[in-house]
Amino acid sequence: MISKKVAEILNEQIEKEFYSSNLYLAMAVWADKEGYPGISKWLYDQAEEERMHGFKFIHYLLDVDEKVTIPELKQPPAEFDNVKSMFNQVLKHEQYISDSINGIVKVCHETNDYRTMNWIQYFVSEQIEEESTVRTILDKLNLAGEKNIFWFDKEMETIRSAASED
Ligand code: FEO
Repeated sequence: MISKKVAEILNEQIEKEFYSSNLYLAMAVWADKEGYPGISKWLYDQAEEERMHGFKFIHYLLDVDEKVTIPELKQPPAEFDNVKSMFNQVLKHEQYISDSINGIVKVCHETNDYRTMNWIQYFVSEQIEEESTVRTILDKLNLAGEKNIFWFDKEMETIRSAASED
């Protein structure tokens, strides 16, 4: 058993991970429609990765004999202004998720939940990697500039999402 407070915050994180998956799926569909195969492939893979994160939270809660609530998800946006603003949105979203993971670590400290504190370290490291990858993408996008979006889309095929590394 883990504390009620920790079980609650882990259930809330399930919603955030599955929403992340749907958000990246919506971005992938938009990029696919706009004719960016490299960008959409990366986003489809990232959507898978976030779904896998959601499953990790579900399985952990079940492993420690806690209740799992499958959340209702709000609808992600379907349209994005351009590639750059979309990736800025990805970075902002990942920073929000990092804050959320840090919040879980804080509750683990407050409730002396050493098991969950140990388990959640995977996500602490994962967030460093995810933010860093999106910053690399934004750096390349800035270097390329709007006129070289074709090159940038090809370059995206060389940036592996965390999902394709598993
Ligand atoms: Fe599962 Fe990108 O946070």
